[in-house]
Amino acid sequence: MLALKILIVEDDNVSALLLKKALEKNHHEIMGIAATGEEALDIMEEVSVELVMMDINLGGELDGIKTTEIINEKFDIPVVYLTASSDEETLQKIAGTNPSAYVIKPFNIRELNMMIELAIFKDKKEKELQKLNNELEEKVRQRTADLNEANKGLKKALEKEREIGELKSKIVQNVSHGFKTPLTSILSSAQLLQIYSEKDHPMKGKLMKHSRKIENSVRNLNNLLTSVLFFGKADANKIDYKPSRFFTAAFFNEVIDVVKANNDKDVTLETSFQDVPKTLKSDTDLLYQVFENLLSNAVKYSKNKGKVLFSVAVKDDMMIAKIEDDGIGIPEKEQSQLFDRFFRAKNVGITEGSGLGLSIVKKCIEVLKGEITVESKAGKGSTFTVNIPIN
Ligand SMILES: Nc1ncnc2c1ncn2[C@@H]1O[C@H](COP(=O)(O)OP(=O)(O)OP(=O)(O)O)[C@@H](O)[C@H]1O
Ligand SMILES: [Mg+2]
Repeated sequence: MLALKILIVEDDNVSALLLKKALEKNHHEIMGIAATGEEALDIMEEVSVELVMMDINLGGELDGIKTTEIINEKFDIPVVYLTASSDEETLQKIAGTNPSAYVIKPFNIRELNMMIELAIFKDKKEKELQKLNNELEEKVRQRTADLNEANKGLKKALEKEREIGELKSKIVQNVSHGFKTPLTSILSSAQLLQIYSEKDHPMKGKLMKHSRKIENSVRNLNNLLTSVLFFGKADANKIDYKPSRFFTAAFFNEVIDVVKANNDKDVTLETSFQDVPKTLKSDTDLLYQVFENLLSNAVKYSKNKGKVLFSVAVKDDMMIAKIEDDGIGIPEKEQSQLFDRFFRAKNVGITEGSGLGLSIVKKCIEVLKGEITVESKAGKGSTFTVNIPIN
């Protein structure tokens, strides 16, 4: 058994001496005997003590429990209580001070030793636990700090990415707008050239051919810019659903006229409208983009003298439209990429295009809260089906 430096706090002289003897017999060193709590605290300021044997009922201002509270706070060493009363109230008070053990008087030596050993063991374990706890807290603190640091870095990176994104879309918007004005003036000049060339001119044929070329190229460029501008807006989440009531026939006629005007392959465009009310409510800008793109694709990717069937039906607040062609079709392997930006299938040959039309369609359908599906077979044709809620 290890020898300890012990302070006895006991106001009954005889009991104190008996205890001293018993402890010394077990090789402990008695550092002093204090009759009051105050005296005990004074002694502990002077000499180092490893364990205190504390009587509960002391004479002075401080009883054993209050003295123990101060010792707990100031010295952090185990205290073993000596008590003559083991009533519930005393036990409660003792428990409140987290004693290491307590001995009920009168004690026998075996019991005393056991309690001292228990006290030291408990104190040791508590200190180990405290140390582990401190280490754990330190680890948690460190981890939290690391996480906060990582979070800050992430926030900064996101902010930077957002700034770059904004800058990019500003550049795209500005450059595209910048292109539009000169393109418009080139276009009108080309149209003028065509008008002049219709009058008698020795180079009439060439003038006509080249002015048509200019006009076509400018139209293509213009379409491309419109698409780029559209995506600038879409990426900034600035495409809103703006519904209005419109005349159904007038709307579809306009789309069909535009598509027909660009039909240079002698493709027949058949239409079928079933149960379509005179007026509908939806966002006509978005609808226009959807049908113009799908119909011009159907015509564009048709074979010469091909046939395109455009059917529209309205059923329970839902518009179901089908665009069917018997053209080149889309190879099965490539169909999953169909709505990706800039995607063009391998079988397009010399047919021109930027690969943006269908991604615009997809975005518009998304804003319209609709759905689009496609069925296609290479060499046979394609059918695009669109479902759009209307009100
Ligand atoms: N009806 C169709 N028949 C066959 N292939 C089609 C059809 N519609 C689309 N595709 C294929 O999907 C690709 C993407 O179509 P999308 O409309 O996005 O671009 P594009 O027509 O090439 O160019 P643009 O941006 O001028 O519309 C086309 O290049 C073509 O390969
Ligand atoms: Mg297209």
